[in-house]
Amino acid sequence: MTYIIAEPCVDVLDKACIEECPVDCIYEGNRMLYIHPDECVDCGACEPVCPVEAIFYEDDVPEQWKDYTGANYEFFEDLGSPGGASKIGKVEKDAPFVASQPPRGEGH
Ligand code: F3S
Ligand code: F3S
Repeated sequence: MTYIIAEPCVDVLDKACIEECPVDCIYEGNRMLYIHPDECVDCGACEPVCPVEAIFYEDDVPEQWKDYTGANYEFFEDLGSPGGASKIGKVEKDAPFVASQPPRGEGH
């Protein structure tokens, strides 16, 4: 199991979550951040600090945002397990589902 970042993070990227993660497993893409499903140790520290409540335990992702669960996994398909987000910095991409979302303010 892992924690998942969902729709409220898109185009917001507050990044308060990054500061809390003890294993540095929250990675930055272009339009949102993604939690590495294998590196996350389910500590839950990130969840309460997100100002827009974008972070959920995998089993608790609201139904309308279920696609974000897949997106969090997909983001890492070609990255493997880098073992630390700060090492690789911002990754200039998004999961395809996230990239296809309309800009916030136009349809959100
Ligand atoms: Fe996004 Fe919330 Fe983190 S907006 S970057 S999940 S603090
Ligand atoms: Fe880190 Fe949040 Fe997982 S703080 S270990 S990403 S539950």
